[in-house]
Amino acid sequence: MKTVAIDSPHPTGSPARSVLTIRRLRKAYGERVILRDLDLELKAAERVALMGPSGSGKTTLLNVVGGIDGADTGEVVFEGRELTGLSDDARADLRRRAIGTVFQFFHLLPTLTVWENVELPLLLIHQPAKERRERVRSLLEETGVNHRAEALPEALSGGEMQRVAIARALAPQPRLLLADEPTGNLDSKTGERILDLMEAVCERHRTALLMVTHNAASTRICHRTLHMRDGQFTEELPREAVGLVEES
Ligand SMILES: Nc1ncnc2c1ncn2[C@@H]1O[C@H](COP(=O)(O)OP(=O)(O)OP(=O)(O)O)[C@@H](O)[C@H]1O
Ligand SMILES: [Mg+2]
Repeated sequence: MKTVAIDSPHPTGSPARSVLTIRRLRKAYGERVILRDLDLELKAAERVALMGPSGSGKTTLLNVVGGIDGADTGEVVFEGRELTGLSDDARADLRRRAIGTVFQFFHLLPTLTVWENVELPLLLIHQPAKERRERVRSLLEETGVNHRAEALPEALSGGEMQRVAIARALAPQPRLLLADEPTGNLDSKTGERILDLMEAVCERHRTALLMVTHNAASTRICHRTLHMRDGQFTEELPREAVGLVEES
């Protein structure tokens, strides 16, 4: 007989479950409209690449989804909850637990060791010490940096820094990972390894991914690719076709 865990926070039964829905999202800086009535839907475990020229609003979109920035109008619905309808505290708490972010320049805290950097988000959500230790240990192992646990970020290679940043982003077991040019500051071989790692961890944990990239080849780890121009998605290319597109 098949057992169904009805109280599971991460139901994996329905592949069609929506993690993120954006409806008519609009944001302007002064007269300049950056996001022009955007619509987007991301399903659980779905990986979507976001491309577009510099200044087209890719980081702005990630910041709004991640709750770092607000929109003017429109809705950002995360697992059925409308973010702008939540109190600041509730929104911050949801962000800490459910949405992880990886940046181009890693953004590790320089005075904390690798271990402490990965542990920090778990302290912020008050995870008990024993669980926390086990979680950090398993993440460092999974991302291949356990031998660097006591090092400070300055002593790491770029690839190692990004592995630590990925471990940190995944620590609270987020359902959505936002990545803003995660391989933009790495040499191509290291970048390929980081992409493979992101694909593997997202697949294993059924984490949805929204990844900004300037490199069409990087979209290989994604199920589909959105192109942004003048604040709108201009086209959605099938995975096989994106290698043929020249990015400006
Ligand atoms: N706080 C701000 N105030 C005013 N304008 C801003 C602000 N933040 C971003 N912008 C402008 O909004 C536009 C979109 O910026 P954004 O960072 O989202 O672009 P992007 O697509 O991520 O570009 P890139 O590929 O260079 O990272 C840019 O023209 C930028 O100058
Ligand atoms: Mg950007």
